[in-house]
Amino acid sequence: MSQVKSLDSSSLLDAPKKNLPYEHQIQAFVSDPVSENVLREVLDEFQSGNFSLTCQTCAQATQRLRRGSTPRILIIDVAGEDQPITCLVDLANMLEPNVKVLVIGDRQDANFYRQLTRGLGVAEYLYKPLNRSMVARFFGPFLTDGDYEPETTRGGRVLGVLSARGGSGGTTIAANLGFYLGEVARRHTLVLDADLYTGSVSVLLGTKTDGGLRTAFESPQRVDELFIERSAQRVGERCDVLSSQVDLSEIVSVASNGPAHLISIVKKKYNFIIMDIPNYSGDVSKSIIDICDQKVVILDPTLPALRDTLRIIAASRSNTQGVRPLIVLNKFGQPGSLSLSEVTNGLGRQPDVVVPFLPKILNEAEISGYPAVQGNNSFKSSIEILAQEAASVSMNEKSSGPGVIRRFMARFTARFEK
Ligand SMILES: Nc1ncnc2c1ncn2[C@@H]1O[C@H](COP(=O)(O)OP(=O)(O)OP(=O)(O)O)[C@@H](O)[C@H]1O
Ligand SMILES: [Mg+2]
Repeated sequence: MSQVKSLDSSSLLDAPKKNLPYEHQIQAFVSDPVSENVLREVLDEFQSGNFSLTCQTCAQATQRLRRGSTPRILIIDVAGEDQPITCLVDLANMLEPNVKVLVIGDRQDANFYRQLTRGLGVAEYLYKPLNRSMVARFFGPFLTDGDYEPETTRGGRVLGVLSARGGSGGTTIAANLGFYLGEVARRHTLVLDADLYTGSVSVLLGTKTDGGLRTAFESPQRVDELFIERSAQRVGERCDVLSSQVDLSEIVSVASNGPAHLISIVKKKYNFIIMDIPNYSGDVSKSIIDICDQKVVILDPTLPALRDTLRIIAASRSNTQGVRPLIVLNKFGQPGSLSLSEVTNGLGRQPDVVVPFLPKILNEAEISGYPAVQGNNSFKSSIEILAQEAASVSMNEKSSGPGVIRRFMARFTARFEK
């Protein structure tokens, strides 16, 4: 028998009623400044100006809520509490029953999750370290007033990698992120090279290319799990590639439901689908971009790439996907290019991930057909951070959470101090 009272049970109707107007629709309390930064960014994105966020423990927050008005949504942090359930029950005793409660903590076990969501009526639970895309994805549906479409279908997560401008490094990042997720982090991963004519994912990952992807786009009725099994080229045990190399003289007529049907099939087999999207303006790219759960925009430190990144961000605001694109600054430190502060000023925010300019490592990898992320180098460190930010996959606790730019900068400048 459950010892805990449900957070939205009718027994809470005797909680003190307050007829005060809502102070803030959303009140959030987190116990550490790193999580506070992540949460602030997501709340700003979803409900700018309509929330309060304080760095306080669960007990302190409970005291404060006892005195103040009740929000519509409460985000509370129970990390570090010896008795998190007791804390939440105390909290339940004074909340109005219709408050949506989102909880952050440090326990990762399924039992705890079940106790909170089923036993206590908590709407959602996330454990630390938090990152922006994870918070947006799981808390996002509760933070909007109805215009956010949560990912409802079960299956793999689709990450679309998009170069702000040709040559910014989208293919390099997509191929290496795919390899990292599959072969290092051991998640079943498909890299889909949507550049049907001149794609080079298979070159970077040292595999063959066939007509599989073209057929899938043109004739969706032929695509099923067996078709994928036959067409996907194996890079390793858990990373596959789907690509095509269409003759430049030929015209591909992509069926309107071709890309979406393909994705619905591969989502059943793979945990992650990394799509290398050739350029924003093409028809195929446009239809593919809308399928992505998370867009990752790659820019190099040049003015044209900066300008086009802003245009891509603006374009994605106009669709219904609430999650903003992740921004990756690639080739950082390339001689004669923009500085980090210039890029940050231009974007109005820091890039989420910074990849240094590493021509030697990447040229050698390209020529030899092995992914650069296989080596133990600073390129791999950046891809690790990207995997954490875009896919919430972390093999290395040190690289998680914000502060990654600061850590990256420390490592980067250290190279010149030696
Ligand atoms: N961080 C980096 N440091 C140095 N060189 C890089 C870096 N990232 C990518 N490159 C190089 O830049 C070139 C272009 O990269 P890539 O093909 O990945 O770009 P792209 O944006 O996909 O280009 P396209 O528009 O042709 O699709 C390649 O030669 C690659 O090795
Ligand atoms: Mg490319």
